[in-house]
Amino acid sequence: MVAFPTETVYGLGADASNPAAVARIYAVKGRPADHPVIVHVGDPEQVARWARDVPDPAKRLMARYWPGPLTLVLRRAQGVGDYLTGSQDTIALRMPGHPIALELLREFGGGIAAPSANKFGHVSPTTAEHVRRDLGAEVDLILDGGPCEIGIESTIVDLSRGTPVLLRPGRISEADLAAALGVAPEARGRGAPRAPGTLETHYAPRQPMRLVGSSRWIEAIQSASMRIGVLALRSKPQRDTSTMWIEARKEPQGYAHDLYANLRALDESGCNEILVEDPPSTADWAAVRDRLARARSG
Ligand code: TXA
Ligand code: MG
Repeated sequence: MVAFPTETVYGLGADASNPAAVARIYAVKGRPADHPVIVHVGDPEQVARWARDVPDPAKRLMARYWPGPLTLVLRRAQGVGDYLTGSQDTIALRMPGHPIALELLREFGGGIAAPSANKFGHVSPTTAEHVRRDLGAEVDLILDGGPCEIGIESTIVDLSRGTPVLLRPGRISEADLAAALGVAPEARGRGAPRAPGTLETHYAPRQPMRLVGSSRWIEAIQSASMRIGVLALRSKPQRDTSTMWIEARKEPQGYAHDLYANLRALDESGCNEILVEDPPSTADWAAVRDRLARARSG
């Protein structure tokens, strides 16, 4: 088992062909056993080992975005164990773009099963220190590649059933996918496969977190009676009583890059509630809005 950097977030990796090794990841994360995991590969050629068929749209996306922050869900190949797929007939695959992840994969040769290297339900780690704090002595080895470039998890698209379905938004946007596929991916529907990253509450800080629209912001701040930690798009007012006020970067990629580190810092600031100013509702903020919506409480 080894924690390693990717361009999105740190992963907790183990030999994807070894059920006992993968079981250890689940135990360390405290993750329910029926949740599927992403298998990371060091070469697109290896997809054939895990996926039964690789449809043209998948080939197109791989050619364009691998290595990179894109996970493909495909029909699993024969012999791919239930321990990787949550007993579904599909397998999630990704070739990460980080040089250390790629070197690890190439040295190892096989597929590496890796969820984000955090305790189940907690905020994903974007530095080696985050991993150390979350999982500490339970992890044999942490490869330190510095802060992750993107900061939020990969885009996940399901290509296992004809129509492409966007399961998790990320740096590679719906528009990027539409351009590469020639058709817009569907939004995740009711019949979509189970994915823990798509549960209502996930990626959450430990303190309660509230999203506040810009129009109600001033009122929310003024009426907050508790010790609040703040993630806002505006600067700290002169008479501010928050335990910590973070003025976020105002473009979505910079915001995403800092998001999990910011939530962790606020969580540890001694506040007992986190207030986050709602980012714009435009498409370029979709992945950030998705993560914030899951991080908030209720
Ligand atoms: O950026 C990322 O994807 C990071 C880095 C480490 O690669 N990994 C990551 O893994 O975010 P994890 O386990 O935290 O999230 C994987 C997501 C989950 O929401 C899971 O349910 C979904 O992928 N998933 C895995 N296999 C699936 C499948 N067969 N069908 C549908 N969703 C699947
Ligand atoms: Mg995760």
